[in-house]
Amino acid sequence: MTSRARIVRVWEATPEIRCFALVPVDGPPAPFTPGAHLEVHLKGGLIRQYSLWNGPEDRDAYLIGVKREAHGRGGSVAMHELGVGDVLEIGVLRNNFEMAEGGGPPLLLAGGIGITPLLSMARQVAARGQPGALHLFARSAPQTPFLDLLTALPGAAVHLGLLPPALDRVVRGLLAAPDPQGHLYICGPGPFMDLVEREAILAGWPSSRVHLERFSIDPSRLDQSGGEFEVVLKRTGKTLRVAEGQTIIAAMEEAGITPMTSCEQGVCGTCLTTVLEGVPDHRDQYLNASEKALGTLIMPCVSRCKGARLVLDL
Ligand code: FES
Repeated sequence: MTSRARIVRVWEATPEIRCFALVPVDGPPAPFTPGAHLEVHLKGGLIRQYSLWNGPEDRDAYLIGVKREAHGRGGSVAMHELGVGDVLEIGVLRNNFEMAEGGGPPLLLAGGIGITPLLSMARQVAARGQPGALHLFARSAPQTPFLDLLTALPGAAVHLGLLPPALDRVVRGLLAAPDPQGHLYICGPGPFMDLVEREAILAGWPSSRVHLERFSIDPSRLDQSGGEFEVVLKRTGKTLRVAEGQTIIAAMEEAGITPMTSCEQGVCGTCLTTVLEGVPDHRDQYLNASEKALGTLIMPCVSRCKGARLVLDL
C-alpha cells in the first residue's frame, strides 16, 4: 500500500549527503519510533528505504538523508535529482530496528550515513533526559553530516579520519566492559558493522543486546545453495519451479511476474511475503529470530524452502 508525499525542503548535509523533508499529501505524518524507515518509490520502478532521523520534537515532516552513490544501483542518484514540490509515492513506515524497552544506557555506533537511525534514537534518549552515548565515525569534518545537531547532543562524539588499526582500537575501547543491561546499536557500511559486531562479541556483549541495521551485505555472503523446489503463488494462480541456485524472485520474473523488490539481498523488507504452506529456509537479515522460527513470513529475494513445496500469498 502506498500514499503520496511532497518534498517541502531539500538541503545539503555534506557535499555528498542531501537531506529531504517530506510531508504526506493527504494529512499529517504517521507516528513512528526511532529506527523506522521510509520506503520511497522512484522513477524506473526503483524502491528504496531511508531511515528517518527525526527527533521527538520535529514530527511535522519525514526527515531523511541520502548519500549520493554514483556507482550504486541508481536510487540515490534518482533521489538527488528531486527538488522541492516533487511528489513521490511512499510505502507504509516500517521499523526493523526498534530500541529495546528499558535496560541500561544505549551505546550507538554509526559509520558515515549510518548515523540517520541512530541520530533519531539519540535525540529521543536526550529528550527523555536519559543517559546514552552516540559515536559517529566519519572521514573528515566536511564529510560529517549533522555536526550542528551532534555538537548540541549530550553524549555524542565524532571520530574523524580513523583507519585500521587505530579504528579497531577506538571501537574496542568503546565496547570494553559492557553495561550488564545496556544495548548496542550499530549502523553503517558493511566493513564497519562487521568490525563492531566482531569486537562486541569479543568484548562479551550478548547477541540479544546487539542490534544491527544493514544497508546491504557483501554479495559473496549471499547463500543460494540448495536444491530445486516448487512455489505455488496462491493469488496469482501459478506454480513455478525454483531451480538450484535460482531465487524465488528470479523464478517469478522468468514467468513474467514482476514482484516488488528493492535490495534483493534480504535486508530491506520490501519483498516480505506471507507463507501459507511449507517451511521456509530463511537466508535474510530482515526477519528477527522469533519471526524466522514462526515460519509464516519469507523474503523471497533470498530465502528458499526446507522441503519440496512452498505456498505463498502472492
Ligand atoms: S527485496 Fe529487500 S528484502 Fe527482499
